[in-house]
Amino acid sequence: MLLVAQITDMHIRPSGKKAYGVVDTEAMLRAAVKSILAQNRRPDVVVGTGDLTDCGLVEEYELLRDLLKPLSMPVYLIPGNHDRRDNLRRVFGGQGYLPEAGDYLHYTVEDRPLRLIALDTVVPGKGHGEMDAARLAWLGARLDEQPDRPTLIFMHHPPFPTGIQHMDSINCRNGEALAAVLKGRSNIERVVCGHHHRSIQIRWAGTIGSIAPSVAHQVVLDLMPHEDSTFTMEPPGYHLHLWRPDHGVITHTAFIGEFAGPYPFVMDPDYPAIGDKAAAPATHAGGD
Ligand SMILES: [Fe+2]
Ligand SMILES: [Fe+2]
Repeated sequence: MLLVAQITDMHIRPSGKKAYGVVDTEAMLRAAVKSILAQNRRPDVVVGTGDLTDCGLVEEYELLRDLLKPLSMPVYLIPGNHDRRDNLRRVFGGQGYLPEAGDYLHYTVEDRPLRLIALDTVVPGKGHGEMDAARLAWLGARLDEQPDRPTLIFMHHPPFPTGIQHMDSINCRNGEALAAVLKGRSNIERVVCGHHHRSIQIRWAGTIGSIAPSVAHQVVLDLMPHEDSTFTMEPPGYHLHLWRPDHGVITHTAFIGEFAGPYPFVMDPDYPAIGDKAAAPATHAGGD
């Protein structure tokens, strides 16, 4: 088994500065880290799917490094449109997984039962992402290496539509070309993304496309066809991808915050299955 926590769109600013003048992204990432460490089943790996910082400043990456330090498991990062490759490399380059040279920050993680492939979709200075010919060729070559091994691909910009128009207009271009690389490969468990700041799922390219909510602010859920771009402080969250050899990847959404409960399931006597031990196990039947 393997449990992968996916955190995304942290948008870290220098300490004391709020993102967009509103969001205390430092405090929100602190809360996310605390939530991950409080999980009964401790994640084996954490992946951070881009927009790690808001402006890609060295100072922001240094704060991010400090905020992630309590995580005892390996953390793998990729850039988003708010990041700068050179500064990300400068602060996190010594951790052994980011390529030291080359134009793109893609890599694979090979030492787990689920193979991880990290893609860099960034187009410097642009909001949208891209998988150009060089990046597609790199991915195709990696997939050809181990065609039967269960694989999770992670990238910042979703290569599929979501119905949120202003975000879809800055998604990963060349989605169809990427889909062509993935098509026919039954070992791709998920393509997991960030960027849209919401939990979204789609059947796509013969696999499942998935977007995790932000650990900070969320994009407003608005499926009308217009370009208005707004965010909201709905509950933040992250995804937990549980890989089991018998079922593959199962994705859960974890919300970050203090919530009432847990409460025991004390069943009302009127519950139809109250006498049915198979349907209502004793722990759920209030000691029938
Ligand atoms: Fe973002
Ligand atoms: Fe983004």
